[in-house]
Amino acid sequence: MQSRVVLVTGAARGIGREVAERLREDGWSVHAVHRSPERRAELEDRFGAERVHRADLTRGEDCAAVVRDLLFAESRLDAVVHAVGEFHQAAPSASTLEECRWMLESNYLSAVALLAAARPALRESRGAGVLFGTAGLAGMRARTTTAAYSAAKSALRVWMRSVAQEEAAHGVRINMVSPGVIPHPHAAAETLDPESHARIPAGRPGRPDEVAGAVAWLLSLEAAHVVGQDLEVAGGWLL
Ligand SMILES: NC(=O)c1ccc[n+]([C@@H]2O[C@H](COP(=O)([O-])OP(=O)(O)OC[C@H]3O[C@@H](n4cnc5c(N)ncnc54)[C@H](OP(=O)(O)O)[C@@H]3O)[C@@H](O)[C@H]2O)c1
Repeated sequence: MQSRVVLVTGAARGIGREVAERLREDGWSVHAVHRSPERRAELEDRFGAERVHRADLTRGEDCAAVVRDLLFAESRLDAVVHAVGEFHQAAPSASTLEECRWMLESNYLSAVALLAAARPALRESRGAGVLFGTAGLAGMRARTTTAAYSAAKSALRVWMRSVAQEEAAHGVRINMVSPGVIPHPHAAAETLDPESHARIPAGRPGRPDEVAGAVAWLLSLEAAHVVGQDLEVAGGWLL
């Protein structure tokens, strides 16, 4: 039987990389998207050269090219995991218009562009998509120090629910995973702060493989009736 095919963005490092590894272990044919050139050779070794794609996903034409190349190689696409979204720490009064635009492009519009490119193939396979938010948005928690980032993730979250409603009628399930504090070698310095770790009710920060496990579950048949949800993997942080 042919493996199910998944496109994982942000796959060169951090959480996206862990998701790509987990889904590969689970038997998926994983197509990995990276932006910076440095880790391409390593990604090709791991996933196969025809399954590695370079793109700036804020550009609609790059998203279309990635999906086109994937379909050329596989003829089907069953799932998309969009683990991209840059971080910016600044209060509202210190956030420039350009910084706010950057956050929206990176965290929200890249998802819009990617799903626009993947939508026909996902409908054909009656597939699934997982987007990446951040913990605390369900309760509309304001975070003074990450104003533009939190606003962009909030936009993504509301949009995800709209898309989930529309796509459910086509057999496609869209959901979101929202990590709390997940340190890894390339994560934002804030994730290494012992003071923020001390505020997590579970008593420790999370691990990338724990986030990957949540993604794997959302893509599994066990979650076949889960639509438009925001699954926090945050140890109770910001509840
Ligand atoms: N780690 C956490 O504690 C945490 C907490 C809350 C939410 N999240 C969310 O979880 C997701 C993954 O987090 P992470 O910590 O693994 O992030 P990360 O370490 O910053 O990795 C993100 C990856 O996405 C790529 N990327 C960024 N912008 C891109 C673009 N325009 N086009 C293509 N690729 C792009 C980056 O490529 P380059 O190497 O070229 O920069 C990088 O490899 C993000 O959405 C993040 O907001 C993470």
